[in-house]
Amino acid sequence: MKMKRVFFWFVALGFLSATVLQAQIPTISSPNKSFKAEVWLNENGVLTYSLSFKNQAVVKASKLGFVLSYQEKTNFFSDFELVKADTSSSFSTWKPVLGEESEITDNHHELYVEVKQKETGRVLGVRFRLFDDGLGFRYEFPAQKNLSFFVISDELTEFALTGDHQTFWIPGDYDSNEYAYSKTPLSQIKAQTAHPYNNLAYRLVSNDSLIQTPALMKTDKGLYMLIFEAGVRNFPVMFADVDRSKFVYKAHLVPDPSGNKARVQTPDVTPWRTIHVSEKAETLLSSRMTLNLNEPSKIEDTSWIKPMKYVGIWWGMHVGVYSWNYTDTNTVKLGITDWNSLKPHGRHGATTERVISFIDFAAKHGFDGVLVEGWNVGWEGWSGPFKEWIFDFVTPYPDFDIEYISKYAKEKGVKMIMHHETAAGVVTYERQLQDAMDVMVQYGYPAVKTGYVGTLSPIGEHHDGQTMSEHYYWVAQEMAKHQLMVNMHESHRLSGVHRTYPNWIASEAARGNEFNAWSAGNPPEHETILPFTRLMGGPMDYTPGIFEIKLSHYNPDNKYSVKTTLVKQLALYVTMYSPLQMAADLPENYERYADAFQFIKDVGVDWSESKVIAAEPGDYIVIARKEKGTEEWFLGGITDEEKREFTVKLDFLTDKQNYMAEIYQDGKDAHWDKNPKSYEIKKQKVTSKSKLKLKLAEGGGVAIRYYPINK
Ligand code: NOJ
Ligand code: CA
Repeated sequence: MKMKRVFFWFVALGFLSATVLQAQIPTISSPNKSFKAEVWLNENGVLTYSLSFKNQAVVKASKLGFVLSYQEKTNFFSDFELVKADTSSSFSTWKPVLGEESEITDNHHELYVEVKQKETGRVLGVRFRLFDDGLGFRYEFPAQKNLSFFVISDELTEFALTGDHQTFWIPGDYDSNEYAYSKTPLSQIKAQTAHPYNNLAYRLVSNDSLIQTPALMKTDKGLYMLIFEAGVRNFPVMFADVDRSKFVYKAHLVPDPSGNKARVQTPDVTPWRTIHVSEKAETLLSSRMTLNLNEPSKIEDTSWIKPMKYVGIWWGMHVGVYSWNYTDTNTVKLGITDWNSLKPHGRHGATTERVISFIDFAAKHGFDGVLVEGWNVGWEGWSGPFKEWIFDFVTPYPDFDIEYISKYAKEKGVKMIMHHETAAGVVTYERQLQDAMDVMVQYGYPAVKTGYVGTLSPIGEHHDGQTMSEHYYWVAQEMAKHQLMVNMHESHRLSGVHRTYPNWIASEAARGNEFNAWSAGNPPEHETILPFTRLMGGPMDYTPGIFEIKLSHYNPDNKYSVKTTLVKQLALYVTMYSPLQMAADLPENYERYADAFQFIKDVGVDWSESKVIAAEPGDYIVIARKEKGTEEWFLGGITDEEKREFTVKLDFLTDKQNYMAEIYQDGKDAHWDKNPKSYEIKKQKVTSKSKLKLKLAEGGGVAIRYYPINK
């Protein structure tokens, strides 16, 4: 890693007037000069910034600052004077433990501005970093004279946009990001929550102009913009309050039970507020600014952090074939402790016998792991109103022989993936975490999937509030101490923090494939939007690979269905980046479509190179990736409800090398609704000079494996 400081200067001019001071804060530009950020104190001493891209404003004059609680003077946004303004630049490269490429470049110019409130003497810093893909800035709270603690009642950060941009948004639900996206002009945003499993009054959005970030936009000049954040830790998630007539986003922090937003002990910093701008959708997807703004790995020896492809006792519960719970007895009401005394209802999924058959299946087809949900006691009451003291993360149901299962898995070379559904009973989980991790270590489980379904306990806390952001981070830290990997469902969305704790291998934190099992599901465009929004923060455990698309397969009355073709389910392994990928369907469905299943067995999960070939949010994505440690490439292409054709140059392949392309494509009559399971598989010799014409059906996809051959 090489770091060079190119220039640095220091200004301390407390006695000059605001207008003169304005001239003292240097303008910074990005390394390739396409971005320019200006920062100044306005006539009221309000710190203000603006951003331009190729000499066009993309963010107009926007205010910064806070309102505080419990202080005589709550205003922490005006009356500032400049203390100092330092600039520097940095160029370095670093290697992610798991990722979309083996090396990432961090090249940025920095400006640190420190201001002091004239009347109160309180000091605030803002650090700006300008990259060739956008701007990141964060607040810094230096140690103060006689003040070690701030309570923030509001963050005032603005993003004043230049027009009524097309926006891809989900409503500002403090407790869930599991929504399909709406696409409207900014002025037409009307956010309402309609979450299928939780509609208790206090979690509804009262303000219909409140949306979540990342918020993706397309301007009338064709620029792609993303308002997001990086490095969320011990701070609430930032949503955006949209001024629909002035086109201004204002930061909206998820509140705590008292209605305040955040507590800060100085010295401390906030997460980075980020603005990505790109002329091409493809380059937005390739931006690594979010990762670059996060701290390097805090785990020194990362050799135990491994990518994983896994199967599991999971989809069967979602489609109603078997259950998480062991008995129909209301154990919560009765306070049952003797589980052996209960009569099983016979539909329990996580039985020793079934787990063994999944281990055999994983071993036979080369999967790394088996996830088992419903192995531990507590599922009888998990969806009820009581959150705490229901789940036990140590005690298996009587028909789950953890000792035998773990021994069997070890013999077969398969890793078991633990499951901790907390039902959002966070106190119980924190209380039991040490014991729960001890069980994992004792039985050799290297990874855990956690879950936070439902309304949070303690009541009044939110999934996206400060307490929980610290909780998720703490869980990742604790797991790291035991060399355990964690995949969080229903947590806040990643904001690149998996760079710092790479054992935080993935998160769900968006609307996953599971919604297709028991709800109106995910529209065909859904998977073409997620990589531009949720995945800009990090990998998602989307759980692709469903082959039995129509759920009437299980029960003629079940009208739900996955809204893709079978081939699109294959393509998602490439387009939906995650080093943890599930083959989510039931083993018997894979046995029936063994030829298509081969792609899931072959596809990589950790990459040395990624090339975004074509992309448009809401329409299509085509990506090629080279598997880390091999010479194989994989291509995934997906489309929304429209059929499409692409001619793809294979110039990403190594020159003068012959390859076999194994092409999995939609059948001629394929259609996500009318004929989703129609597919064709063909082989073709190719080189880097070849071009391939790809045809994707409505709601369809294409998946290709390229491997070197001699001639
Ligand atoms: C929601 C998770 O996303 C899903 O994967 C899991 O099966 C259920 N909760 C039960 O924990
Ligand atoms: Ca979920």
